[in-house]
Amino acid sequence: MGIGVIEALYYSLLTFLALILFLGVVVRLVRRFYHFPIPFFLVGFLENPVRLRIQSPKKIADRLDVQPGMNIVEVGPGAGTFTMEVGRRVTSSGAVYAFDISLKTIEKLRARIVKEGATNVAAVAASAYDLPLVSHSVDRVFLVAVLAEITDRQRALREFTRVLKPNGLLSISEFLSDPDYPLKKLCDDGAARQASWRFPVTAV
Ligand SMILES: C[S@@+](CC[C@H](N)C(=O)[O-])C[C@H]1O[C@@H](n2cnc3c(N)ncnc32)[C@H](O)[C@@H]1O
Repeated sequence: MGIGVIEALYYSLLTFLALILFLGVVVRLVRRFYHFPIPFFLVGFLENPVRLRIQSPKKIADRLDVQPGMNIVEVGPGAGTFTMEVGRRVTSSGAVYAFDISLKTIEKLRARIVKEGATNVAAVAASAYDLPLVSHSVDRVFLVAVLAEITDRQRALREFTRVLKPNGLLSISEFLSDPDYPLKKLCDDGAARQASWRFPVTAV
């Protein structure tokens, strides 16, 4: 009887893992040809404890070397997992501008900003191709699990370069379990060259 239950659990777990693997492969195959933003209903799932442990807001903010008073852009903030931590670090003398192409996502993030009382974080619906900012005005541009969703990455990279100050920093992070995780370099020298970058790009 006991063995029967363990066996059933074992096969259920195997079936579950096989299903996840199968879905991952299907999504990856589709994404190979089509790049589009994540459906709104899935955005909340990204903020789960396993992910937060592996790719924590602290880790991302540390990587950005955020200093008080900085002006920082996040492209594709989703639920705002990283936005809020970066907002706390720039303090009230700095600001975070979070731009997402999905209006529903922006509305959800605005509600979070109000709930958490962040006065230096603005959430605005805008495309990565056309950020509503003057040229060379921000210290950092960062994006997490976003670049693979953008069809014309060179165009987006050019736009990030446009808004960054000359000594600014661009931070691009991906997440291994994301079906969009780039198995080959997203930001290789070819893409950088086409985006008119004159410095070598290295993966961290
Ligand atoms: C996979 S989610 C990542 C959300 C968040 N950065 C995170 O890691 O939890 C990708 C986000 O990028 C946004 N996005 C996709 N393409 C975009 C584009 N061209 N311009 C601006 N935002 C975009 C999507 O709407 C979505 O909120």
